[in-house]
Amino acid sequence: MSESKGQFNSNFGFIMATVGSAVGLGNLWGFPYKMGTNGGFAFFILYLLMLCMTGFSVMIAEFAVGRSTGKAPIEAYRELNSKYTIVGYFAVAAAVFLLAFYCTLGGYTMKYFVENFISIFTHGGIYSTGDTSQYFSDFINNGGSVVLYLALFMIINLIIIMGGVAGGIEKFTTVAMPALFIMLIIVIIKVLTLDGSGAGLSFMFKPNMEAFQGTGWINVLGRAGGQMFFSLSLGMAAIITYGSYLSKKESLVKNAVIVPVADTIVALMAGMAVMPACFAFNIEPSGGPGLLFITLQQVFNDMGSVGPFFGFLLYFLVFIAAITSSISVAEAVVSAAIDARIKKGKSYNRKTIASIVICIEFLLNLPTALDALGGAGLPQPLGFCWLDFYDLLAEGLLMPFGSLCLAIIVGYGLKVEWLQEECEAEGNKFSGKGYWKACFKVLSPLAMVFILLGQIDSFFSLGIFG
Ligand code: PHE
Repeated sequence: MSESKGQFNSNFGFIMATVGSAVGLGNLWGFPYKMGTNGGFAFFILYLLMLCMTGFSVMIAEFAVGRSTGKAPIEAYRELNSKYTIVGYFAVAAAVFLLAFYCTLGGYTMKYFVENFISIFTHGGIYSTGDTSQYFSDFINNGGSVVLYLALFMIINLIIIMGGVAGGIEKFTTVAMPALFIMLIIVIIKVLTLDGSGAGLSFMFKPNMEAFQGTGWINVLGRAGGQMFFSLSLGMAAIITYGSYLSKKESLVKNAVIVPVADTIVALMAGMAVMPACFAFNIEPSGGPGLLFITLQQVFNDMGSVGPFFGFLLYFLVFIAAITSSISVAEAVVSAAIDARIKKGKSYNRKTIASIVICIEFLLNLPTALDALGGAGLPQPLGFCWLDFYDLLAEGLLMPFGSLCLAIIVGYGLKVEWLQEECEAEGNKFSGKGYWKACFKVLSPLAMVFILLGQIDSFFSLGIFG
């Protein structure tokens, strides 16, 4: 049975899905801490600079690659020019590796919202645990429980993707994203009314030039760029795929501005929820899983009887952020597999393909799930824990390298006029041609080389930038 690949019903649906992809764990546990420890507001300025140099332009280019061809990355690049096909493979491979750790983390978020939910009624369980660090370590070392939550997370992904573009992804994200936004506002209001929360705001926002000393600013620029890129879901096949489901009526320029701006606003808001909460309870802030699952749980446990409710709210919103990101990546892999069937002239069934993709991803996640963030004694590829190993392949190498290729392809191969033609389809305006030209010819390739070096530097601690 063959069906059409599908399309978003409205531009709002497209924006919710794409912002859903962008807003994820990167916003919640990456951005606030990186901003706080890398110069505060000064980091933010460099983040915006990188956004202007390469974020907006790679975003619009991915939209255009998808929409002009109506295909997922591999076939999309092939259609543009068979020489470019390899870049499509990079993107889909990045998606496969990203999912191989992201879903395990998605499972963690489910465990935490479920446990906090139970505590609302029992006032016990996770809420009464004295040592949240021990609790987290016990959980991640319990392979059966981690795999169970991983499986649940993947089944929800599968159900949404089986529903198709409009009936599954759009329907889910148009409800989930506004809900996430409202929950975030409630959490921010609660947190900002706690005594001592102001110190958290100044941790995050106060410009601090220490990080910029010597060659430090180059490091900060690399970190800001890497964070921005990951946060926008670029270079991982997801945005091209969503672009391929967008109607020609809609403006690419407008969408390429709205999505990054919305993502940045949510990242700032996440910082306003998370950092002040740590400071109000005198808990040393951190980044990554430690922040989310140890520090913040401690905050809720210290909050008194309303703790489990706010804990549930926060972990549920993190779960939504994670799942709206993972479906975009899983959909990209499914869509690429559908293209491959169509190319061979074979019929396809979305549900079957989605099930196969999810099963394969489940298997790829097993090492991550059983590795307990490197603490379980599994063999470590290249000396990395499994999560970091997959992340190195996806976020460290394939994402920036593929995007560097895309920037060069648009700047020098297809030319900005190709982009203009796609943007002007059905009478939309292509504003800022000079800006886009400068981006694709110079700024974006430069920034991408920089981000690539920064990623390699941070994964291998090479000290390239001093
Ligand atoms: N943007 C997501 C986040 O911030 C991660 C992601 C990357 C999702 C690439 C899809 C594709 O967590």
